[in-house]
Amino acid sequence: MKSVPNFAALRAAVLLVVFIVSSALFVVNSQSKLQAPAYTLADVQKVYPDARSFALGKNNEIVVSNRKKAVIGYLLASTDFGISYTGYSGDVSVLVAFDQKRIITGVYVFKHNEDKAYINDVIFEGLLDRWNKKALTPEVSKQNIDAVSGATFSSNAIINTVRHTMAAYLKTEIPAPVSRNLLETANAESANAATKPVYENKTKKSIGPRAAIMPKPALVIGSYDSNGVPNILTAGWAGIANSNPLSVAVSIRPACKTHDNIMATRFFTINVPSTKYAAHMDYVGVVSGHNENKFETLGLTAVKGEFVNAPYVGEFPVVLECEVTHTINLGSHTQFIGKVIDTKVDAEIGRAHV
Ligand SMILES: Cc1cc2nc3c(=O)[nH]c(=O)nc-3n(C[C@H](O)[C@H](O)[C@H](O)COP(=O)(O)O)c2cc1C
Repeated sequence: MKSVPNFAALRAAVLLVVFIVSSALFVVNSQSKLQAPAYTLADVQKVYPDARSFALGKNNEIVVSNRKKAVIGYLLASTDFGISYTGYSGDVSVLVAFDQKRIITGVYVFKHNEDKAYINDVIFEGLLDRWNKKALTPEVSKQNIDAVSGATFSSNAIINTVRHTMAAYLKTEIPAPVSRNLLETANAESANAATKPVYENKTKKSIGPRAAIMPKPALVIGSYDSNGVPNILTAGWAGIANSNPLSVAVSIRPACKTHDNIMATRFFTINVPSTKYAAHMDYVGVVSGHNENKFETLGLTAVKGEFVNAPYVGEFPVVLECEVTHTINLGSHTQFIGKVIDTKVDAEIGRAHV
């Protein structure tokens, strides 16, 4: 007897095949969308210029190959581990490069919204180099790295992202994040909260108006008189007054020779003495240029400013060259506001220290 084809069964079978194929395609498609890396070959080539391709290894490391398909190095991308820490303006993503022996060969920021100046500071201060040549181990992933002052949020975000990425790859304990402020750090270190405010009805006594701000600076102000004779004065009534334009404020009594000089030239320098020159700084603050040339008495070198018509003290390690923008008569003193035109530091001084 001729068998009658079972169309219903056939149809069901065809539909099942179509369903399986389309769902398989959907899974592949959605997975490939999920796995689209946040970095590109161009990012990888910034680390490995010879890179021509890369693929994810079994532990989520990026295996980088050259034109001949030979492996030339490895990378960890924070984004592959879903790790992100926020700097000033958003998440920071890093690449950690390492070789076959698991020695770290570089750390790179490949995606961020930070101000470029902060990231430049971080690079300039060598933060990213601090992991170089270290083994990719749990100990190194926990290692303390100091934040870069002035770019603290950006550098802390980088430090946390790098350490957490390494820990995720090594499947080890995730290091406690570097804190964003001293209060958090203190509270993390001590449960008994040494930072807890203690007021306890403390009574205050009034002592009248006093210049009770500590510490006070002891800066040396350089200026020329109208004959080009260099002079220096010690100033405690001085400090940073504005960020943009970077400006300083110095208050000087009209009786001082420096007062006449700055009124005439509209320029001055601020010289920060090292402890070696504490006695010189003191002398400059008790003897007037009306009576003697203090540079000559003290054997200090008056160097003509590069950008301003004022001398600086060659022996002192930090110098600010300033142009007067405002003159304010406050009573006993005239306050000179000076725009900082340039800062000079002895070559061996790192930028982190000024
Ligand atoms: C530690 C210290 C801080 C001083 N701070 C100031 C100051 O802020 N403003 C000022 O007019 N004089 C200040 N003086 C006094 C002047 O430096 C001092 O009168 C000096 O001899 C003036 O020099 P000149 O006449 O050559 O300009 C200070 C002195 C010392 C020792």
